[in-house]
Amino acid sequence: MAENKIPYKIYLDESEIPTKWYNVRADMKNKPAPLLNPATLKPMTHADLAPVFCDELIDQELDDTDAYIDIPEEIQNFYKMYRPSPLIRAYFLEKALDTPAKIYYKFEGNNTSGSHKLNSAIAQAYYAKKQGLKGVTTETGAGQWGTALSMACSYFGLDCKVFMVKVSYEQKPFRREVMRTYGASVTPSPSTTTEVGRKILKAHPGTTGSLGCAISEAVEVATHTDGYRYVLGSVLNQVLLHQSVIGLEAKAALDKYNVKPDIIIGCAGGGSNLGGLISPFMGEKLRGENDYKFIAVEPASCPSLTRGKFAYDFCDTGMICPLAKMYTLGSGFIPSANHAGGLRFHGMSSTLSQLYHDGLMEARAVEQTSVFAAAEQFARVEGILPAPESSHAIRVAIDEALKCKETGEEKTILFGLTGTGYFDMVAYQKYNDGEMSDYIPTDADLQQGFDGLPKVD
Ligand SMILES: Cc1ncc(COP(=O)(O)O)c(C=O)c1O
Repeated sequence: MAENKIPYKIYLDESEIPTKWYNVRADMKNKPAPLLNPATLKPMTHADLAPVFCDELIDQELDDTDAYIDIPEEIQNFYKMYRPSPLIRAYFLEKALDTPAKIYYKFEGNNTSGSHKLNSAIAQAYYAKKQGLKGVTTETGAGQWGTALSMACSYFGLDCKVFMVKVSYEQKPFRREVMRTYGASVTPSPSTTTEVGRKILKAHPGTTGSLGCAISEAVEVATHTDGYRYVLGSVLNQVLLHQSVIGLEAKAALDKYNVKPDIIIGCAGGGSNLGGLISPFMGEKLRGENDYKFIAVEPASCPSLTRGKFAYDFCDTGMICPLAKMYTLGSGFIPSANHAGGLRFHGMSSTLSQLYHDGLMEARAVEQTSVFAAAEQFARVEGILPAPESSHAIRVAIDEALKCKETGEEKTILFGLTGTGYFDMVAYQKYNDGEMSDYIPTDADLQQGFDGLPKVD
């Protein structure tokens, strides 16, 4: 189809929302390493994981072979509330950059929670309800995951206990209130309500918390409360599986116009949106059907892929979770304050880590002032106010488009715009007032985190 026929927004029909999730692990020659039991260092079995996670989610977590998994009808119906999400051709941005590149973005911010996190939240709440549980516990950093989960839990009538990283709890009272409006209880973490929280507070008085601390608290409460399980918004295989709806829809929309992206870019915190966006394209690459360049973008202040070690590590600061093999900065690494709270996690999804290790994906670290410069440039021409996390992808998409301007190449760039930034105006204010700084950890800072890695052969 002729180039000028591509609309500003490509919407799929409701009937084209995927009915199956795609499991990229099925096509990986080198599978992600299994989760290990920290006591025995043996792979976690279904029975080991059952006190922590919902049963069907464990099956999905351990499934390295089924390429497609049916999306239950109740979840498909919920998806209709806000999906299909639009795939947008960034004509205005292309013009502003004066680039021959063709830029597309998949916008996941068009639901009340404001991000892609709802795609997995509704799935996890569904399986918890189906198992007859009373409720779930979780952590939230920036607040998007907690908001998404509280929406999903209220839909299914489940109780939802959220541990929110203290710095976000204090900086983002409105985000907290959205969660409470949907019926969740929200506790700032580290808190004195759990044993692990009290231990962390004793060791680090005055700490403003981290995702790793909040995970430890949420897991402790889930495993000590009858009828509760713990759910996680990123990192795990099951979460990447649910997020594959992003990539499947994006690919279906591009296929309608015979567009094949050359470069696919996403921000990477624990890896769920990026894993979901790239999965069907990565599947084609793994099967030798097509080639794509994938770029994971992370903050320079928390550079797990670009400067981390590929090793077994705890997913949480309290060291009570299973060990995952991933690119990690060490579970004791507490990143400096950064306005993209959702990207402040010490590790990276095992699936993405393996793909990166095998040279199938690239990674770049960017500094937050340059991220906010890209966010504002984007907002002023494309109209959407992006989340700071999503703006990491915008930064690199703009950089790649500017490279095309230099070389004259007409590359097609696809990036994931994971959410909106309405609750991040303190960060935008700091940037606008010239008060935002960049902090890049030194090798010595990182070494401290590496020194705490568990010894696993
Ligand atoms: C808007 C937004 N984008 C991206 C992320 C990063 O998470 P992930 O790497 O799991 O997609 C977050 C996490 O909170 C987020 O809120």
